[in-house]
Amino acid sequence: MSKVLFEITEDHLETGLRGVPVGYCTTSYVDPQKGLFYRGKAISDLRSAHSEEVIFLLKEGHLPSKEELAAFKSVLSERGGLKDEVISHIESLPRQGHPMKLFAAALLILGAIEGENDYEKDTLTVIAKIPQLAAVVINHHAGWGKTPSFNPQLGYMENFAQMVNCPNCDKVRLKEVFELFDILHLDHGGGNLSTFVGKAVASGHEDLFGSLTSAMCALAGPLHGRANQDSLRFVEQTLKSVGENATQESVEAYLRECLDNHRLIYGFGHAVLRVEDPRATIMYDYSEKHFGSHPLVKTAMLLRRAGPKILSDNPKIQDPFPNIDAISGSMLTAAGFGYPEFFTILFGLSRSVGIALQIVYERCRARQGKGTPIIRPKYIYKSL
Ligand code: MLT
Repeated sequence: MSKVLFEITEDHLETGLRGVPVGYCTTSYVDPQKGLFYRGKAISDLRSAHSEEVIFLLKEGHLPSKEELAAFKSVLSERGGLKDEVISHIESLPRQGHPMKLFAAALLILGAIEGENDYEKDTLTVIAKIPQLAAVVINHHAGWGKTPSFNPQLGYMENFAQMVNCPNCDKVRLKEVFELFDILHLDHGGGNLSTFVGKAVASGHEDLFGSLTSAMCALAGPLHGRANQDSLRFVEQTLKSVGENATQESVEAYLRECLDNHRLIYGFGHAVLRVEDPRATIMYDYSEKHFGSHPLVKTAMLLRRAGPKILSDNPKIQDPFPNIDAISGSMLTAAGFGYPEFFTILFGLSRSVGIALQIVYERCRARQGKGTPIIRPKYIYKSL
């Protein structure tokens, strides 16, 4: 008799599978009290690493030696650079709708033209090309003109920062915040919605690009990857209400007014975490150090303390603490990238890496290489 992991009762139906074990995740896990770990390393220990190092860690299980890093960088450089026809198809997409619609379509276009129908090879292609794919989509949707060519001499996020035609941006600072954003969003356990959806679609043996496209459509939901956009708007509304010289008390009063008027408070709470999201802690520290006088960052710092104090008054709230969305938009805006409609694309270019690596595990490594079976949970018939 194998070990009992979880007892399911009727009360667990229609609860979003909270806490229900359904498989293994070999790349990361989220501890309710300690937060995110990549291959056993706490995210706080990786705050100063480069994207290539952390992606290598997720892929191979250890941080790279100097030689391994050089070899990995050359693989990414060789595979980097989109074909011109991929770029021209993306640039023919309508500049309408949320940019995540175009990002999802761009992944399908990339797969149709450069896919090899091989999960491992396609994963390397996605890792290498997704920064340029994201830059082309952003520049096209924003009307910021042609995307500069992929430069194999530049680092992963340095390349991305130089390809995004962000007006009046300090590209050195932009690269720093894009890289911090990237390493903090690569993976978040096996059960976040976009990762679960990507693996579920791949369980029917759809190729990597179709599976990632589905995952990006899941990420685009306001309760998931698009929450960073709405959370910035909440910080802006708070700033507008309390002003630039607010106190924690005035922010607490504003939050009470929101609750009294049944207005949502964005950026707080998490399905798994029961402490401040360690990813948020890292971004708060960076933002306070580099953008401490920016009005949005000052307001986000006040919300960081006021939020838990007000929200913990409600016993129904299991996690009153800030998650990464509470600060990410303010940090990006303070760095010059004040374009919330593109924040979820930044999330998607990062998370696609973790999802792809988890799909490779489930398709190519799980069950002694047989792969996991097609996802087919049970629903109980209920007549209305
Ligand atoms: C994420 O990073 O995916 C979000 O925190 C949501 C989650 O973990 O479920």
